[in-house]
Amino acid sequence: MTALKSAALKKTAFALADAAPFVIRAERASDVAAREALLDAAFGENRHARTCQRLRDGRAPAEGLAFTAVHQGRVVGTVRLWHVSAGGTPALVLGPLAVDSACRLLGIGAALMNHALEAAKARGHNAVILRGDPAYYERFGFSAEKTGELALPGPFERERLLAVELREGALDSAWGMIVATGSKTRKPRGRGIAEPQEAPALAA
Ligand SMILES: CC(C)(COP(=O)(O)OP(=O)(O)OC[C@H]1O[C@@H](n2cnc3c(N)ncnc32)[C@H](O)[C@@H]1OP(=O)(O)O)[C@@H](O)C(=O)NCCC(=O)NCCS
Repeated sequence: MTALKSAALKKTAFALADAAPFVIRAERASDVAAREALLDAAFGENRHARTCQRLRDGRAPAEGLAFTAVHQGRVVGTVRLWHVSAGGTPALVLGPLAVDSACRLLGIGAALMNHALEAAKARGHNAVILRGDPAYYERFGFSAEKTGELALPGPFERERLLAVELREGALDSAWGMIVATGSKTRKPRGRGIAEPQEAPALAA
C-alpha cells in the first residue's frame, strides 16, 4: 500500500480543479436518510440481498470507521468498515463504498478509501477485506493474493474477494469462513417491526 499519512485522519478539504471542495468526515446520525438514498441509487433497492450484507446485518460498524463525503453541504459519498473474523484472524470488511453519480470521477471515492484505510491502520487493525472490482481496488493495495483460503457466507466470485494487509503477514494463516464479530445493534421493541439491515449511523 502507498504510505499512509496520519494527517489525512483529520477532517480534510480536497480542492478540486473544477468544483467546490469536498470534505471527508465521520458519519453522523443526521446522514442516515441521504446515505440510504445514495446507496439505493448506487446499488439498487435489492442491495440488502448482497452477500456482504450478511456480515453487516444487525451489527454496528467498527468504532470510528464510518465516513461521509460532503460536497456543498450535501452527502455525496459513504464508506464503512465492519469487524469480522477471517477464518480466525481479526480483520475488517469494507463496504458499502458509494459516491453520488453526479460527483463521480472527482477523486471522492479515492479520498474515502484512503481516509478509511488510514483510520483503520491508525486504530491498529490487521487487514481490510472486501468484495469488489479488482480494477478499481488494486490502486489501494487490494488483491486476491491472501484471500484464496477464505469464504463469504453466500455466493461470491473468488477473483473479487480482495484484501489489503495493514500489518504485514496478518492474513498469512487466515483460512475459512469470514464471519461478523461486530457489536450487535439492539432489536426494536414490538412484534412485526423488521430490524434495520444496517446499523444506524454513528454520531460524529
Ligand atoms: C466506485 C465508485 C465508488 C468510485 O467513486 P469515484 O468518486 O468516481 O472514484 P474516484 O474519482 O476516486 O476514481 C475514479 C477512477 O476510478 C475508476 N473506476 C471507477 N469505477 C471503476 C471500476 N468499477 N473498475 C475500474 N475502475 C473504476 C474510474 O475509471 C477512474 O479512473 P481514473 O482515475 O483512471 O480516471 C463510484 O463509481 C460508485 O459509487 N459506483 C457505484 C457503487 C459501486 O460500484 N461501489 C463499489 C462497489 S465494488
